[in-house]
Amino acid sequence: MKDLDRVVAEIAEEMRTRPDRGRVADYIPELARADASAFGIAVVDASGHVAAAGDCDAPFSIQSISKVFTLTLALGMVGDRLWSRVGREPSGSRFNSIVQLENEHGIPRNPFINAGAIAVTDTILNGHQPREALGEILRFMRFLADDNQITIDAAVAASEQRTGYRNMALANYMKSFGVIQNPVNFTLGVYFHHCAIAMSCRQLAMAGRFLAHSGRNPATGYQVVQPERARRINAVMLTCGHYDGSGEFAYRVGLPGKSGVGGGILAVVPGRASIAVWSPGLDDSGNSHLGRIALEKLTKRLGLSIFGL
Ligand code: DON
Repeated sequence: MKDLDRVVAEIAEEMRTRPDRGRVADYIPELARADASAFGIAVVDASGHVAAAGDCDAPFSIQSISKVFTLTLALGMVGDRLWSRVGREPSGSRFNSIVQLENEHGIPRNPFINAGAIAVTDTILNGHQPREALGEILRFMRFLADDNQITIDAAVAASEQRTGYRNMALANYMKSFGVIQNPVNFTLGVYFHHCAIAMSCRQLAMAGRFLAHSGRNPATGYQVVQPERARRINAVMLTCGHYDGSGEFAYRVGLPGKSGVGGGILAVVPGRASIAVWSPGLDDSGNSHLGRIALEKLTKRLGLSIFGL
């Protein structure tokens, strides 16, 4: 991709010195230790070339970005039956909101809000021990990124397990409707641990490649999911990937994307590139403040928005 290396380096330099950096998440105490001055970016183009800059090799907590991969796994296990347990409409609410669940009989709006992701994790857990389900998720991440060094940050997982009262409320509430089928503490244990997977921008951009290339990893030729499934996962990322900030993200960046409260964002340019950015400070919707700004600059300068120039 023409000018990619130059533009990526320029953006990293611009982000390094910006004074407005958002606010680091502290509702999971261990995440509050993140360095607000960090910024990393990695872009893998269709040829496999990686343009990366800033703290692109520093591992961070991927948090809700893991939900893209658990959605992929759950769809692989139960296919479209998944959509009877979780919807695929934008919620217009915060990621940990409980209000919609009562009106909608315990069926979460989409697989990316916390309630939806917990229901997806519960699907992966069916018929397995928590350790096996978690192993499956971690192996999938390592396989996609082609990197066996990827691990779970046990301190982050333990920190959320100690303090995740809202998620416990969401899971118990869904259990009362029969939407959660396994013991709530098993499902949440797997959920907290997959959110605590630590990856760098470079590893995450590699892992997202199958979504940019019709379900196929162009490096290995391996078809991870069928093209139709990759297209649909991208559609859900576009409409729901940034919670109540999804409209703003589509307006400014114009790409399917998924954020996490660790400050990461994975974004997909269909047919062209997989992108990961990271900066721990968040905006009011819980999405990376500089991550979004960096992606907006990148899509604008390189003409990458799916909606045109
Ligand atoms: O369940 C939680 O609250 C976190 N493990 C994940 C939330 C998250 O990343 C929301 N994203 N912006």
